[in-house]
Formats: sequence, structure tokens, C-alpha cells
Amino acid sequence: MQYYMKGGNPLVGDVYISGAKNAALGILPAAIMADETVIIDNVPDVSDIHTLCDAMSEIGVLVATGDNHTYTINGANISKARVDNEHIRHIRAGYYLLGALLGKYHHAEVALPGGCNIGSRPIDQHLKGFRALGATAEVQHGIVIVDGKNLHGGHVYLDMVSVGATVNIMLAAALAPGNTVIENAAKEPHVVDIANLLNRMGANIRGAGTDIIKIRGVDHLHGTDYSVIPDQIEAGTYMFAAAITQGDVMVHNIIPQHMDAISSKLIEMGCEVSEFDEAIRVVGKFPLHPCNVKTLPYPGFPTDMQPQICVALAKADGRGVITESIFESRFKYVDELTKMGAHIKVEGNVAVIDGVPRMTGAQLEAPDLRAGAALVLAGLGADGWSSVSNVDFIMRGYENFIEKLKGLGAEIECVSDEREARKFRFRVG
Ligand code: EPZ
Repeated sequence: MQYYMKGGNPLVGDVYISGAKNAALGILPAAIMADETVIIDNVPDVSDIHTLCDAMSEIGVLVATGDNHTYTINGANISKARVDNEHIRHIRAGYYLLGALLGKYHHAEVALPGGCNIGSRPIDQHLKGFRALGATAEVQHGIVIVDGKNLHGGHVYLDMVSVGATVNIMLAAALAPGNTVIENAAKEPHVVDIANLLNRMGANIRGAGTDIIKIRGVDHLHGTDYSVIPDQIEAGTYMFAAAITQGDVMVHNIIPQHMDAISSKLIEMGCEVSEFDEAIRVVGKFPLHPCNVKTLPYPGFPTDMQPQICVALAKADGRGVITESIFESRFKYVDELTKMGAHIKVEGNVAVIDGVPRMTGAQLEAPDLRAGAALVLAGLGADGWSSVSNVDFIMRGYENFIEKLKGLGAEIECVSDEREARKFRFRVG
């Protein structure tokens, strides 16, 4: 299966953003910490969520969904605190089951997490946090085992800002007697969202969204209902789609404040960005101006938007520089852009991009989720036909990607063989 597209059309129109994948991936494990039913709404319909829910069902969590966006979760009858199935090894967020099960049952065994191959992704800070709460934590035969008969509050200073470690420690500490303090915590909107859900379930968490989070452990968590925040990165991807195709896109169902770092780079590149209560309109203006950007934890420019801004810079009028400061090998897609005529040199964690006036369609391979989406944007902004393979990566995190792009006028189709590609080419002309 691959995406097949003809570039050149400015993307124009309205697009509606789904719930945040990385928030939902923490919220669903948090929901199993109650013995009562928790109803979660605005969950994105993407494959990482399905994988996580399959893994949760296998340990006895009741997971029901009506419309693929509303999940009813009941963790009263969890039969084992060991999660080791073929699915869980493919996603990163499986590690949130460690914190959730440790908090609830004082013991958890979860297969080491997988996820996108964007560099070494250690979990030492998660384990350091669990140990600070009085648990033992070790890795045996590819399984992380945490045990905390006398789980209690503790003080954790994270050596680097880590979204995953912040969330995992918050989950376990929510049910650990006493006070926990997480210093140098991640401030991402999805960290706040997960804390908000836990508080709705009866937890006592203060400071989420700042770099010090304080948690007073409670006896138990109860049922509630909750709606996941909109996806900052999905929204940012469509905002850059407007820039790259010289389009005019109104991105709806978002929290504009979460988009500040992305909006300000688009403005610096010469785009018109207008903010509304729950929407942002981006008008792409050519020539795009080059800029320098460094990825940083929130509220800095997100690493998950790094490939998308690189595609825009590849078409800008001059030299731009990207410094990737979060993940060590997140430039694997650059070779694909080179096939399209882009001029990019990567040295270590820095990419120097000399913009070219036009890029040309090519056969591309997605190396990971966000880079995959960025290559599709590159194809839509290039002259002629492109294909992007390995689209399973993209389906992990973008709900209805093709349909939403078509809604903006993109000539794009998901094809399974050359015959379907030929038919599509014939239809589009
Ligand atoms: C989350 O990954 C997201 N994934 C990633 O999104 C996102 O890129 C990343 O945060 C940064 O925003 C999920 O939420 C499921 P980190 P995570 O822990 O939690 C180092 C996407 O495309 N580190 O904040 O794994 C680590 O190596 C994905 O949606 C340690 O050294 O990221 C990295 O350099 C890709 N030890 C930095 O910290 C640890 O114990 C930040 O990683 C933990 C992290």
C-alpha cells in the first residue's frame, strides 16, 4: 500500500483536527487505574490507539468503542499485570502501562517499548522515577519489571525534560501514599491533559504545565468522563501544508495557544496566520523566507514538526538551518527530499537547507510517522507525480490523512498496486 499523489495544487479549504494521539496514549492507561468505568471522548482513530487497546484488552481491561472516538474503559477485572504481546512492542506508549499498573497493583511487567526509529530512546528516567517512589525497576529478557510493595511519594529531578518519564511518574505517584515532586517536568499540552483526567478521577496533581509537578497520592481513583484535547502536531502539519503548497487552509478544532511556536515560524517565513477562538487560518505566500529553527521541549518548536518545517525550508528563498536537539537521528527523510531536488546537508544534529524554487515528484519511502507525513506534503508541493511507501507509519498518528487532504483539494490516493496507480493517473490526467 502506498500514497500516490500529483503535486501542484494549492491546498485550500477547511480541515478539522482530531484528538491528540500522544494525550490519548496516556489517558487510556490512566483510565484503567480506576475500578469504575471511565468514558473517554475525542480519541483519534489511529492505529497506535488500536494497538494499545488490544494490549489492554489482553490483560482483562474492558474496552468498548461505539464510533471509534469514544472509548468506555473499565479496569476492575485486570487479570495480570504483565503486558507482553506482539502489539505492545511496536508502540512507544506501551510504557505508560508500567506507571498505571505500578500505581494500582504495585507491580508491573511490560515489554520494552518500540515506536518510531528516530534515535536511541532510553527509559532510564522513567525507572529512576519509579525507584524514587520506593519501587525496584529492572529489565530482564526485554521486559521491564517494576515492583513496589511499599510504594510511596518521592522527589524526582529529571536529568532531561522527558514527556514519557513525566507522565509515567505522575501515573504511579497518583496512587502512591505521600507527596511526590517532579522537577524539570515536561510541560507539553498532553502532559497537562493527562493530569487533568487523573484529577477528574480523584487524583491530587498540581503544577502540570509548569516544570514542577506536585502530587499528593490518594487511596483510589474513580470513574469519570473526559474529552481529549486536539492534536497540536496534526494541526501543525496542516498549517505547514498551506505554507508548502501556497494554499489557504482554515484549521479547526484546535487550541491556538498550543500552536504559538508553529505559528510564529510560519509568520517568520512570510505566511499570513490569523487566529480565531478555536481555529487558525494559514495563507501560504511564495517565496517563503528562510529561517533558523531549533527543536525544544514545549513551549519551544516541537521535534514532531521538524520534518514538516524542513520541507517548507527546502522551498524557501535562501538558506535555513534546523538544529534537532531532542532526538539524534531524526533526519533520515532528507535523502528522500534530495531525490526531489532539495539541497540539504546534514551534519550531526544540524541540517543546512538551501531552498530551491521547485521540487520534482519522486518515489519516496517514509522512515517514520512525522517524516512520512512531511514527505506527503513535499509530494503535494512538488511538480508531477510522487509516491510515498511505508504508509503504516503515517496511519499510526494521522486520522483520515488522505480524506482530509482530499477535502483540501489534494490529488492523492491510497493505492495497493501499479494497476490502481495507473487508474488514478488516468483519472487525474
Ligand atoms: C514523546 O516521546 C512522544 N511520544 C514523541 O512523539 C515526541 O517526539 C517526544 O515525546 C518529544 O516531544 C509519545 O508521546 C508517545 P521524551 P518520548 O521522553 O516520551 C531522552 C510522535 O511522532 N530520554 O520526551 O519517548 C530521549 O532520548 C512521537 O508522535 C532519556 O534519555 O520522548 C529524548 O532525547 C515521536 N531517558 C528526550 O529525552 C529517558 O528515560 C525526550 O524524550 C527518557 C527520555
